[in-house]
Amino acid sequence: MVAVRAEAGVGGINPSIRKEEAKVVDTVLAEELSKPLTPYCRCWRSGTFPLCDGSHAKHNKETGDNVGPLLVKK
Ligand code: FES
Repeated sequence: MVAVRAEAGVGGINPSIRKEEAKVVDTVLAEELSKPLTPYCRCWRSGTFPLCDGSHAKHNKETGDNVGPLLVKK
Protein backbone atom coordinates (compact mmCIF):
# COMPACT_ATOMS: atom_id res chain seq x y z
CA MET A 1 0.00 0.00 0.00
CA VAL A 2 1.35 3.41 -1.00
CA ALA A 3 0.46 6.26 1.31
CA VAL A 4 -0.34 9.57 -0.37
CA ARG A 5 1.43 12.43 1.29
CA ALA A 6 -0.07 15.88 1.69
CA GLU A 7 1.62 18.83 0.04
CA ALA A 8 4.13 20.59 2.20
CA GLY A 9 2.25 22.70 4.70
CA VAL A 10 3.48 24.85 7.51
CA GLY A 11 7.02 23.77 8.27
CA GLY A 12 7.25 21.64 5.12
CA ILE A 13 10.10 22.08 2.68
CA ASN A 14 9.32 19.66 -0.18
CA PRO A 15 6.44 20.94 -2.34
CA SER A 16 6.31 18.14 -4.94
CA ILE A 17 9.33 15.86 -5.25
CA ARG A 18 8.62 12.09 -4.91
CA LYS A 19 5.81 12.69 -2.43
CA GLU A 20 4.76 9.04 -2.69
CA GLU A 21 7.91 8.09 -0.75
CA ALA A 22 7.97 8.13 3.06
CA LYS A 23 11.43 9.74 2.95
CA VAL A 24 13.44 11.01 -0.03
CA VAL A 25 16.95 9.58 0.21
CA ASP A 26 19.60 9.41 -2.52
CA THR A 27 23.02 7.79 -2.53
CA VAL A 28 25.82 8.98 -4.82
CA LEU A 29 29.21 7.37 -5.28
CA ALA A 30 31.67 10.23 -5.75
CA GLU A 31 33.91 8.17 -8.03
CA GLU A 32 30.96 7.69 -10.44
CA LEU A 33 30.30 11.41 -10.91
CA SER A 34 30.66 12.41 -14.56
CA LYS A 35 31.86 15.96 -13.89
CA PRO A 36 34.61 17.27 -11.57
CA LEU A 37 32.02 19.46 -9.76
CA THR A 38 28.37 18.37 -9.50
CA PRO A 39 25.70 20.64 -7.94
CA TYR A 40 23.01 18.92 -5.84
CA CYS A 41 19.72 20.63 -5.03
CA ARG A 42 18.98 21.78 -1.49
CA CYS A 43 15.94 23.93 -2.27
CA TRP A 44 13.60 21.09 -3.33
CA ARG A 45 12.50 23.04 -6.42
CA SER A 46 14.75 21.46 -9.07
CA GLY A 47 13.17 19.79 -12.08
CA THR A 48 16.20 17.48 -12.17
CA PHE A 49 16.25 16.63 -8.45
CA PRO A 50 18.51 15.54 -6.83
CA LEU A 51 20.65 17.62 -9.19
CA CYS A 52 20.41 21.41 -9.13
CA ASP A 53 18.91 23.00 -12.25
CA GLY A 54 19.14 26.61 -11.08
CA SER A 55 15.54 26.79 -9.81
CA HIS A 56 16.83 28.04 -6.46
CA ALA A 57 17.41 31.47 -8.06
CA LYS A 58 13.66 31.89 -8.80
CA HIS A 59 12.76 30.59 -5.34
CA ASN A 60 15.19 33.01 -3.70
CA LYS A 61 13.88 35.95 -5.74
CA GLU A 62 10.24 35.15 -4.87
CA THR A 63 10.79 34.45 -1.18
CA GLY A 64 13.87 36.38 -0.12
CA ASP A 65 15.50 33.08 0.81
CA ASN A 66 19.18 32.39 0.20
CA VAL A 67 19.41 28.67 -0.59
CA GLY A 68 21.84 27.20 -3.09
CA PRO A 69 23.24 23.83 -4.16
CA LEU A 70 25.62 21.46 -2.47
CA LEU A 71 28.68 21.20 -4.71
CA VAL A 72 30.25 17.74 -4.71
CA LYS A 73 33.82 17.49 -6.02
CA LYS A 74 34.99 14.33 -7.73
FE1 FES B 1 17.63 23.58 -5.80
FE2 FES B 1 19.57 24.71 -7.17
S1 FES B 1 17.66 24.04 -7.89
S2 FES B 1 19.54 24.26 -5.09
